[in-house]
Amino acid sequence: MVYERDGTVLGYMILGMKIPSLLERLERRMLAAWHGQEADLEENTGHIMNLAIDPAFRRLGIGGLLLQRGLEYLQSLGAKACELEVRVNNQEAIALYEKFGFAIKERIKNYYRNGDDAYLMIKELA
Ligand SMILES: CC(C)(COP(=O)(O)OP(=O)(O)OC[C@H]1O[C@@H](n2cnc3c(N)ncnc32)[C@H](O)[C@@H]1OP(=O)(O)O)[C@@H](O)C(=O)NCCC(=O)NCCS
Repeated sequence: MVYERDGTVLGYMILGMKIPSLLERLERRMLAAWHGQEADLEENTGHIMNLAIDPAFRRLGIGGLLLQRGLEYLQSLGAKACELEVRVNNQEAIALYEKFGFAIKERIKNYYRNGDDAYLMIKELA
């Protein structure tokens, strides 16, 4: 998704639906069987891979607008939740995500190539 003004891209977001691995599907089936339930094999979690706004156009609400539209789009695809990873020291982004109802679920050690940790953040969409 891009935010354009007069033909210039001022921000973009990359997002999609998570596709569970074979192992995850198997785990879901086994857990469901264990609890005597129907396995929920839907690919129902959205994921935000990237979101960035041109530095000259930050704090104008563009990031929030893209995020809002992105969450609506994921919901229209049937997502029940949305996840993302963010650097633990990225205060601006964490503030943005918290404003939109995301909560920190866990800290992932050495998530980034330079060794930085990430927070896995999640928002329920139901
Ligand atoms: C994070 C980012 C996308 C925010 O985009 P933006 O267009 O400036 O955000 P908005 O103007 O929509 O701000 C929405 C909310 O985010 C939070 N926020 C954004 N920038 C902030 C800052 N510098 N300090 C504190 N809070 C901030 C605030 O809660 C803000 O709400 P408010 O204006 O009512 O206080 C932008 O700073 C960016 O591109 N950063 C670099 C790339 C990046 O880190 N992306 C995230 C990767 S996971």
